[in-house]
Amino acid sequence: VAVVRLTMMWMLIIVLGMCGGRAMGWTYHFSKETMNWTMAREWCWSNNHTDMVVIQNQEENNYLRDVLPDRTGSPYYWIGIKNITGNWKWVGTNGTWVGNYSWAPNEPNNKLGEECVEMYVNKGNRENNGKWNDDKCSNLKYPLCYRGERLNHSFRVFFKGHQ
Ligand SMILES: *[C@@H]1O[C@H](CO)[C@@H](O)[C@H](O)[C@H]1NC(C)=O
Ligand SMILES: *[C@@H]1O[C@H](CO)[C@@H](O)[C@H](O)[C@H]1NC(C)=O
Ligand SMILES: *[C@@H]1O[C@H](CO)[C@@H](O)[C@H](O)[C@H]1NC(C)=O
Ligand SMILES: *[C@@H]1O[C@H](CO)[C@@H](O)[C@H](O)[C@H]1NC(C)=O
Ligand SMILES: *[C@@H]1O[C@H](CO)[C@@H](O)[C@H](O)[C@H]1NC(C)=O
Ligand SMILES: *[C@@H]1O[C@H](CO)[C@@H](O)[C@H](O)[C@H]1NC(C)=O
Repeated sequence: VAVVRLTMMWMLIIVLGMCGGRAMGWTYHFSKETMNWTMAREWCWSNNHTDMVVIQNQEENNYLRDVLPDRTGSPYYWIGIKNITGNWKWVGTNGTWVGNYSWAPNEPNNKLGEECVEMYVNKGNRENNGKWNDDKCSNLKYPLCYRGERLNHSFRVFFKGHQ
């Protein structure tokens, strides 16, 4: 797995590798500036990324946990899942994947207005590293986007590759 970083307004992570015997070809992108969830999704689009990141399984989640720059504290990364009328749904696809180990301890706490989701990337906090937390969409965090073929959950896409 090669990680290439281009230091500009944003950083680019190029994923080259094999996972479960299938090629992975997403690229993941994040801003170095924080913004609220709505503006974060806009940032993804305005930089020609496909959408805010849609995580499809634990392997992909763990991959992101391991390659993203460590944030030793808040703010963390916005991910593309939101509480829409009582269900956690992924942007673009309306997928509902939530792993057994996705949420941080005692999360989601469903506090009023905590409809958006961040991923903690905090290598010093083993309990929370790579886990999710529901938070207010107005809070400012780093957008995490992907670029690739739009996902289609009517059939199970794993890591859809270029090759
Ligand atoms: C996005 O794509 C459009 C159309 O190809 C291009 O004009 C624009 O410069 C791109 N924007 C960025 C931020 O790459
Ligand atoms: C979504 O938000 C509503 C309203 O705040 C809350 O009652 C519900 O428990 C949340 N749904 C989930 C799946 O957490
Ligand atoms: C996801 O759900 C929203 C609202 O229910 C709907 O407008 C949208 O078309 C759906 N998207 C897909 C890809 O099914
Ligand atoms: C996740 O939890 C469900 C319900 O407890 C269980 O049936 C399933 O086997 C678990 N999956 C994994 C991958 O641990
Ligand atoms: C996000 O920020 C934009 C621009 O500052 C603002 O217009 C919008 O109301 C904010 N949305 C939320 C949910 O805070
Ligand atoms: C998703 O993929 C299936 C199988 O290839 C196809 O039949 C369906 O039309 C696709 N749906 C969308 C929204 O692209």
